[in-house]
Amino acid sequence: MSDTDVVDFEAVRARFPGAAESTYMNTAARGLLMRESRAAIDVMLDARMHEGGDKPMMFEAVESARSRFAQLINAGSEEVAITKNVSEGLNAIIAAIEWRAGDNAVLCLDLEHPNNVYPWRHAARRFGVDLRVVTAVDGIMPVGEMIDAIDDNTRAVTLSSVTFAPGFRTDIAAIGQVCREHDALLLVDGVQSVGVLKTDVAADYIDAMAVSTQKGLLGLYGMGFLYCRNEWAERLTPAYLARFGVDLGDGAHEAALGGDDWRLMPGARRFDLGNYNFMAAAAVNPPLELMLDIGPDKVEARVVSLAHRLAGGLLAMGLPVCGGAPGPHLAGLVAVGEIGAGQHDGTDDPAMQSLFDYLSENNVQLTIRRGILRFSLHMFNNEEDIDRVLELAAQWMRKHNA
Ligand SMILES: Cc1ncc(COP(=O)(O)O)c(C=O)c1O
Repeated sequence: MSDTDVVDFEAVRARFPGAAESTYMNTAARGLLMRESRAAIDVMLDARMHEGGDKPMMFEAVESARSRFAQLINAGSEEVAITKNVSEGLNAIIAAIEWRAGDNAVLCLDLEHPNNVYPWRHAARRFGVDLRVVTAVDGIMPVGEMIDAIDDNTRAVTLSSVTFAPGFRTDIAAIGQVCREHDALLLVDGVQSVGVLKTDVAADYIDAMAVSTQKGLLGLYGMGFLYCRNEWAERLTPAYLARFGVDLGDGAHEAALGGDDWRLMPGARRFDLGNYNFMAAAAVNPPLELMLDIGPDKVEARVVSLAHRLAGGLLAMGLPVCGGAPGPHLAGLVAVGEIGAGQHDGTDDPAMQSLFDYLSENNVQLTIRRGILRFSLHMFNNEEDIDRVLELAAQWMRKHNA
């Protein structure tokens, strides 16, 4: 697709059957599957059922997914490892750093998902890493405070590109530049943005980034990608090692057995372990191909414009949209309620719980995280979805205020 082509997003929507079956605003939990993903899994399952499985086809699916993902984030395919999920990718990097006495790591615990909190608490206990914790203000990643906390003993900085709640964007490049100056590794949890927003690891000075495939990448659970910049990968020693992480030469299966002259694979491939989640690789290829075909900038523009329409509409009704008027903080996620007024899947605010229940009863799919309602969008959403939610919210307001 060339730059001047107008994208037919209704044709894109038609490839996701689930988009017609509910008002689906739950990509932040898990995205919808394309028909083509189902078909690709079926082909693999048929081969597995009838012939025991077609291994070259399975590996082809993994390598296509790896190189498409690399292209999507402006990396080389040798800079991408295949993992199980975000947690595994983050832990792989943290455990591979050679921590020295006095090293510190900078992070904002308030805004990170628990899966990017416990690996750091663990590193503090295991390796004595000094955690320099900064505090979020109004749900925004405190870039200035993070930069101020970085010094020559900072070995790593971590952040989410978009937080899981309230879903605002982080100014990654500003922190990335400072990390580069201090030779600190910038580790990003990219799962709430990759596939939805355009990602350029080079422009943002990202050193490593972990994602899973079931959210914005519109694939299955149980597979993730770990980007690691070549220069950093060569300095990292994986905590786990198996066949695919070892440079065995030309596809040799057992060449290094017995010898002591083996080497780690160059780049991020040293983090690959054993056999892959081949079904999940088959499933993620069609959406990756579609995103590359449309262009990540066009996907982003579409999703962000829908998010603006939703946030603006809800705000005009007097609902407490986090972050207020739509602006540059907004990604593909619109959050409503008071941050921290509850937990996972429930809010302590009876009005917001009632709004959530009303929307759910009317076939809108969304989630509650940290006590706030989370409407999360992707390229299969359209204006009608937004207007349907605005209409339901208006009905709820009339009932609620009656
Ligand atoms: C920001 C963020 N990180 C991590 C996760 C989950 O991590 P994992 O893929 O390891 O289960 C989620 C959501 O499930 C998330 O929103």
